[in-house]
Amino acid sequence: MTRITGVSLRRVLDSRGNSTVEADVLTESGGFGRGAAPSGASTGEYEAIELPASESIAKAREHAVPRLEGVYAGDQRAVDNALRAADGTDDFSAIGANSAVAISMAAAKAAADVLGAPLYQHLGGAFRGENFPVPLGNVVGGGEHAKEATHIQEFLAAPVGAPSVSEAVFANAAVHAAVADVLDERGVPAAKGDEGAWAPPISDAEAFEVVDEAVDRVEAEVGFEIRFGLDMAAAELYDDDREAYVYGDETKSADEQIEYVAGLVDEYDLAYVEDPLDENDYEAFAELTDRVGDRTLICGDDLFVTNVERLEDGIEAGAANSILIKPNQIGTLSDAFDAVELAARNGYETVISHRSGETEDTTIAHLAVATDAGYIKTGTVGGERTAKLNELVRIADDAV
Ligand code: PGA
Ligand code: ZN
Repeated sequence: MTRITGVSLRRVLDSRGNSTVEADVLTESGGFGRGAAPSGASTGEYEAIELPASESIAKAREHAVPRLEGVYAGDQRAVDNALRAADGTDDFSAIGANSAVAISMAAAKAAADVLGAPLYQHLGGAFRGENFPVPLGNVVGGGEHAKEATHIQEFLAAPVGAPSVSEAVFANAAVHAAVADVLDERGVPAAKGDEGAWAPPISDAEAFEVVDEAVDRVEAEVGFEIRFGLDMAAAELYDDDREAYVYGDETKSADEQIEYVAGLVDEYDLAYVEDPLDENDYEAFAELTDRVGDRTLICGDDLFVTNVERLEDGIEAGAANSILIKPNQIGTLSDAFDAVELAARNGYETVISHRSGETEDTTIAHLAVATDAGYIKTGTVGGERTAKLNELVRIADDAV
């Protein structure tokens, strides 16, 4: 029933206006699935390789598509093994992780279509009422996602006390709106960065004040707990030659960076800190986790790149207590599931995530529910972000 009869690939637009890969998978019984690859701007050094979309499509057509015909779309491992075999490298540098992940997701959706089941059910999950993935919403940002804004890449609203998915999603949108009000009151103009977060030309210290104030206002309105967190994307701040984290004219050593982040966790009761240190510094990650890991999530994105080997090293070192999962960092859904399972077995929280360059694809909303993830990081506003958030709302609605 789910035997693949055709895979077609095309170039489509992503949210930055760049080209990305979209895949359609057809099965013999008429099942249809479509997936599109996202794309990062602050990519980790150890991520699977994204090729230019046209090149990736040409290579995948030549090497992967012939191997996929006849494979059962419902057997995700078989699909993903065929992709790996067609590529023949560890990092998908032959066909591109962009074609690989688009096909992997499209195959899963085609199988779900044949079964008449929502994708999250086909992926083996269930919606668990109050234990839904909490959306982390980017409300202020800079770094690689917006020039002339904060050094810290993302300030993320975390509605940890929300009683439902819908209330959590709307709380993040309200924080985004409240940030605009606070900036306006301070006379600060703000454009938006790549993920739709406000990108004001203010210092990181002022951004903490603004987000703290916005979160307080919305918390008072909605009556449940909202905290906030950060993606520091510190590998982008770290200068190998100077062996220091560079914040404009100021620098911090690794020890100073640990001190700084630990101080922020306590001062702002941060719920979440992603990539607070360089992607090669497991030791510093471990030291920070040791200090504040009992009261906040220390999450590895560029550190782990959704890669089980890097996560194994991290677990050994005690380098974090949570992992960001981005399927395109590793190339297939099966690989992403393996990382989630290893994390869960070791008590690591999982956070399923979008990229800064996105499409209308909603797979990660299903993946978050399917894997019982604690969090999903997928922005706050903007069509490519609300596509996932609204899908999460629909899943919750269908499940009750
Ligand atoms: P990217 O950023 O998608 O540009 O890599 C997102 C992140 O660092 O989490
Ligand atoms: Zn990140």
